[in-house]
Amino acid sequence: MKKIAVLTSGGDAPGMNAAIRAVVRTAVFKGMEVYGVRRGFHGLIKGEIEHMDVKSVGEILHRGGTILNTARSDQFKTEEGMGKALNILRVFGIEGLVVIGGDGSFRGALDLSERGFPTVGVPGTIDNDIACTEQTIGFDTAINTVLEAINKIRDTVSSHERTNIIEVMGRDAGDIAIYTGMAGGAEGILIPEMPLNIDNLCRRIIEGRNRGKSSSIIILAEGAGKAMELERIIEEKTGMETRATVLGYIQRGGSPSAADIILASRMGYHAVELLENNIGNRIVAIRENRIVDFDIKEALSMPKKFNQELYDLAQVLSI
Ligand code: F6P
Repeated sequence: MKKIAVLTSGGDAPGMNAAIRAVVRTAVFKGMEVYGVRRGFHGLIKGEIEHMDVKSVGEILHRGGTILNTARSDQFKTEEGMGKALNILRVFGIEGLVVIGGDGSFRGALDLSERGFPTVGVPGTIDNDIACTEQTIGFDTAINTVLEAINKIRDTVSSHERTNIIEVMGRDAGDIAIYTGMAGGAEGILIPEMPLNIDNLCRRIIEGRNRGKSSSIIILAEGAGKAMELERIIEEKTGMETRATVLGYIQRGGSPSAADIILASRMGYHAVELLENNIGNRIVAIRENRIVDFDIKEALSMPKKFNQELYDLAQVLSI
């Protein structure tokens, strides 16, 4: 394979630029031509494709977001949209595609693969909700961003002897909440994978107060509820002044951590190696610190397990 392209799709994530850089520079190193597609599948349909070289990805390693921009595309999900995309790839003579994104993006990658176009997915999303990989690009940076916010909120809740319920992203997964709740010493962690029991949570807050804890922090995964709605309920049930914080989009930005840059670089390199050997229809993953790959359909059918051990440990250590 001598001519490939790369695109970013879905929610952006810190480290995506490191993955783009790895794809471009590995391709150039291997004597391949490489093209960047702007705005994900939306841009692919419109032919927003530009040749890339070593210089195109200079000085982007430290930048969050994606230099190729990203977008969600309903048109790509239609036969007509898919046909236009395949036509554009043919017109440019592109033989393989790297898709950096989350599960929605990988369904697009599967559609292309099923139509005979070699496509490789690289898991880039802060949600860490791609079952085939132990970690997704962006997750490590996002949890460190959240931890910084928790520590700042810890100052004010202890000054006012309050409870603060902090809503974090993650879509339908609780990983951001579990990892940051653990690292931030939260008194409670509410995730979509566990039944929401407000009375149990309020009892923990009251028991903590009776043991001398004058303030509490609760981490709420967005898939488990709305902080603004739970704020009043918790205050009424515990009698403690309660405030809500919705962290929102700061979790998607920022300079990627070293861990994310290294993960993204390793995954991007592996994706190009697969295409170089005419292997498509794969999703790159990390398992026990080894970079591996799975059939896209198989990967998308794997059940997402949440980290029960970490969740349980966090409950013990935050008594
Ligand atoms: O998938 C990443 C993510 O940040 C989710 O955690 C969040 O629910 C969603 O994207 C927000 O989507 P949008 O950027 O389209 O508002």
